[in-house]
Amino acid sequence: MPDPPVACPWPGTAEVVDGRLRRIGGADLADLAARHGTPLYVVDEAELVARMRAYRQAFGPDVRIVYAAKALAVTAVLQIAVREGLDVDVASEGELATALRGGVAGERIVLHGNNKSAAELALALGADVNRIAVDNDAELDRLVPLAAGRPAPVDVWLRITPGVGAGGHAFIRTGQDDVKFGFHLSAGAADAATDRVVAEPTLRLRGLHCHIGSQVTDGRAYAAAVEGMVGLLARVRDRHGLVLDELNLGGGLGIVYAAGEVVPDVDAYAQDLRANVTAACARHELPVPRLVVEPGRSIVGPAGITLYTVGAVKDVPGVRAFAAVDGGMSDNLRPALYGAVYTFAAAGHGAPVTRTRPFAVVGKHCESGDVLGTDVSLPADLGPGQLVAVAATGAYGDAMASNYNRLARPAMVLVRDGRDQVIVRRETVEDVLARDVPLARGGVR
Ligand SMILES: Cc1ncc(COP(=O)(O)O)c(C=O)c1O
Repeated sequence: MPDPPVACPWPGTAEVVDGRLRRIGGADLADLAARHGTPLYVVDEAELVARMRAYRQAFGPDVRIVYAAKALAVTAVLQIAVREGLDVDVASEGELATALRGGVAGERIVLHGNNKSAAELALALGADVNRIAVDNDAELDRLVPLAAGRPAPVDVWLRITPGVGAGGHAFIRTGQDDVKFGFHLSAGAADAATDRVVAEPTLRLRGLHCHIGSQVTDGRAYAAAVEGMVGLLARVRDRHGLVLDELNLGGGLGIVYAAGEVVPDVDAYAQDLRANVTAACARHELPVPRLVVEPGRSIVGPAGITLYTVGAVKDVPGVRAFAAVDGGMSDNLRPALYGAVYTFAAAGHGAPVTRTRPFAVVGKHCESGDVLGTDVSLPADLGPGQLVAVAATGAYGDAMASNYNRLARPAMVLVRDGRDQVIVRRETVEDVLARDVPLARGGVR
């Protein structure tokens, strides 16, 4: 792939005034913080929509773009995805329910997951989801009896593990052999699964699926996966006389988290993927199947930022300066989980930033590892009450948020042309407490 231009992690609408991030989507960040509180997830609708359109344009009308809801499974985001012509991939009952509540038609939903329960499968069948990506034999055991009660065979893909993993961290590489996902190509599990599904009258094998990992920045990994997947398509033809016409190559395209990082742009990624599939099919004398891709991070990641308020600055002489913000690992687990690196900026209004110094930006959780960034350049006079923004938190931020230390999870606002709309209301402590059942007098009875 050609080298893309050096990219910046902030949404395209970001406006900086006097060294502070002032506006996103035309909305004043200080005003958003004052009205909605912090921490606050801010999603730039223009950036979000532009990314969806870039996918549609790069791949063209014959490729199916399925938004991977796991990256940000918020009703309004799924509604925008569908409005923009994307379909939706869900990986749990909760994600499926979100899509259905957002009015996403079953025919535009595909179901993933490596341990789908019978209840999830039944719910998906009841909603007439378009494809189920089957992960393993036990799942087939659960699906077959449910499918038997259906008027027509259930359309499935098989999730294949091609023996090629890629991605920004070991935890998000998913296509290598040492992984829990899918039917492994090595040792013949994938071939055996195709045999089983082809012989099963209640199911219809529509195609194959793989997902090699997330935050992938080296396109060569996709080429290797394509080779294995098209080889399997050819074996299905040779063994069963069945030419499968769908090939889902998953998501995973990386994004820029820190200025200067190099990631393939979506045009180069699309071009390479199509060229690799076309060439592999030609070698195996197969027609080119309909391609499906499932981007998550590269759609929502750069569209979102998080806004925090600094609560304390602590200088430890000879060690470092800490800036504690009002959220942390409960609203962005990725730094603690993967050592993920983000870009920070002073935000809101204030004196022009003339001098900066390095801070560790830490959260308010009872963990020394609750560090959002280690060597972050922020105004030298940073202090309580000032706003700090973090770029590219739209993917796997809210999606992986927790209530650690019983923190209520942040609100999310969608901004566009200077206006804002709450798309996730701020959780309250009452919400958090609502699941607890206090002991009755006398204890367990
Ligand atoms: C099956 C599947 N498809 C798509 C994705 C989306 O990946 P990304 O957000 O990196 O594009 C994932 C992420 O884990 C996945 O497991």
